[in-house]
Amino acid sequence: MEGSSSRHGLAILLIILQFTTYTALSSADTPFHSQRNIEYIKSSCSTTTYPRLCYRSLSIYASKINTSPRLLVHTALNVTLKASKSTSRLMIKISRIHGLRPRVAAAMADCIEVIGDSVDELQQSIGELGHIRRSNFSLTMSDIQTWVSAALTDEDTCMDGFAGKAMNGYAKTMVRKRIVKIAHLTSNALVLINNYASTESNLP
Ligand SMILES: *[C@@H]1O[C@H](CO)[C@@H](O)[C@H](O)[C@H]1NC(C)=O
Ligand SMILES: *[C@@H]1O[C@H](CO)[C@@H](O)[C@H](O)[C@H]1NC(C)=O
Repeated sequence: MEGSSSRHGLAILLIILQFTTYTALSSADTPFHSQRNIEYIKSSCSTTTYPRLCYRSLSIYASKINTSPRLLVHTALNVTLKASKSTSRLMIKISRIHGLRPRVAAAMADCIEVIGDSVDELQQSIGELGHIRRSNFSLTMSDIQTWVSAALTDEDTCMDGFAGKAMNGYAKTMVRKRIVKIAHLTSNALVLINNYASTESNLP
């Protein structure tokens, strides 16, 4: 009787141990996003032009962003820069394919140039955001608004180069989807930047 109940107790203990080890592991594996952090991303994204893309691209950084509008903007710019750089690399690869029609090759070369400019503008924005001070908050935000708007114009310019059915084909298909995504990410980042710039309480 004694032996059986203690074996029984041991089995329960083992089950409890396994369970706690399991939960400890799983919470170590996935970053902890509190409901408050997630809600902050959700409500900030709801003001953007493409809220679902905004939420999808930023919610994974929820614990890092916490509820900081500056980190939100910084992360949105980081995500946009990363996508722009990878698209730029892809376009350079495609442009090296032999047998591209001359018009397509020209559009691709133009795109590589303007997306390169856009990458520079995003990098400058991230750089200045890192040096923002209470004393030059408005000046810095105004620079960033100018650069990110310029990046958006560059992305539109790239798309315009591929306008028309005559440009249809592999290169256009490959580039178009990605440029549209970058333009949407940039547009979202600009809204978040404008929100940050317009709120006095956000002063660093
Ligand atoms: C932005 O990217 C840089 C470089 O990858 C990284 O060091 C920084 O922590 C990122 N910032 C945010 C807020 O995600
Ligand atoms: C804002 O001030 C900081 C610290 O003095 C400086 O590093 C940064 O370049 C300034 N930014 C602008 C836009 O003047």
